[in-house]
Amino acid sequence: MRLLVTGAAGFIGSTYVRLVGGEHDVVVLDKLTYAGRRENLPEGTQLIEGAIEDPAAVREAMQGADAVVNFAAESHVDRSIDDQEAFARTHVVGTGTLLDAARELGVERYLQVSTDEVYGSIESGSFTETSPLDPSSPYSATKAAGDLLVSAHFHTYGLDASIVRGSNNYGPRQYPEKLIPLMVLNALHGDSLPVYGDGRQVRNWLYVEDFCRGIHTVLAKGRAGEAYNVGGPDECENVEVVKRVIELVGADESLIEYVSDRPGHDRRYSLSSAKLKEELGWEAQVHFAEGLERTVEWYRENEEWWGPIRSGEYREYYEKQYGKSLG
Ligand code: NAD
Ligand code: TYD
Repeated sequence: MRLLVTGAAGFIGSTYVRLVGGEHDVVVLDKLTYAGRRENLPEGTQLIEGAIEDPAAVREAMQGADAVVNFAAESHVDRSIDDQEAFARTHVVGTGTLLDAARELGVERYLQVSTDEVYGSIESGSFTETSPLDPSSPYSATKAAGDLLVSAHFHTYGLDASIVRGSNNYGPRQYPEKLIPLMVLNALHGDSLPVYGDGRQVRNWLYVEDFCRGIHTVLAKGRAGEAYNVGGPDECENVEVVKRVIELVGADESLIEYVSDRPGHDRRYSLSSAKLKEELGWEAQVHFAEGLERTVEWYRENEEWWGPIRSGEYREYYEKQYGKSLG
């Protein structure tokens, strides 16, 4: 199969290309934003630098593709609170541009990579695929709009399209603006560890390779017009995540600093993956304790990956977001 994988210079897409690259002919379309890095891709991967909202770039990249997997996104909630414009452009206009091209070029299969955040926050129990979409942040609202466009292209034009909704991912090559790599790198440097609000918000942690196996399962066997949840096996309060990182790094709990809460902060995410398990046989393989240990180890050993990031755009972002400099 010839696969067009968009946004694959980022964290999850590059893990996906590593997983399926040997088995399929892969072309990557990526705008190379602050989060997109050529070095994330395995050597020899065909990369077209361009935006999913650019019809010419999309048509060039999609020529001859049998299937499209769309990872391209602005992925950080805090940045969406600061300025939503790029989120709307990529998630809504970009997804629409990909869908139009897929239909016009007769692509056989389209898979949209989405998030549990489109369902909003849940106090108890877990979201299923029939839960209503109730997003809270500009990030999740624009992701939900993208999902709805995918459903519309299935209903209106009969496009063979499905959606996967993953819970919070973690693992190697995640940009350090996200909770786990931020805490690992700050703990390694002796910088303070900024916990939002009371730190008792809950996330459902999914090791990135488990998500990528789920994505590939749905691409191969999922039903058109359907969404599939891919939830991690473990839930954990943020402050507990931070304490586990401290222990693995060998840092001190006095580094924890409670800071102002994120506006509109979702309290808890929890996904039921029963549909994916029962229909398609997927199951998470990596528990949080093991995945976190692997992740901390990867960051310890890969300073050549995070060194340039921590001294570049990220440093400025950090100062603006947290009102203090990185050490
Ligand atoms: P990331 O920020 O690491 O990577 C995003 C990639 O998309 C980057 O390479 C970037 O250059 C590219 N990109 C951004 N805008 C683009 C555009 N307009 N055109 C082309 N390329 C563009 O993000 P990630 O964490 O790897 O997330 C990948 C996908 O998975 C996203 O759709 C995200 O919503 C979804 N998702 C993420 C998580 C998570 O925990 N990180 C969980 C569930 C779902
Ligand atoms: P994040 O990694 O941004 O993912 P998401 O917002 O998509 O769930 O944040 C995970 C959780 O960690 C979320 O509840 C916000 C919290 N958090 C902090 O407490 N401090 C931080 O510096 C960051 C980045 C996140």
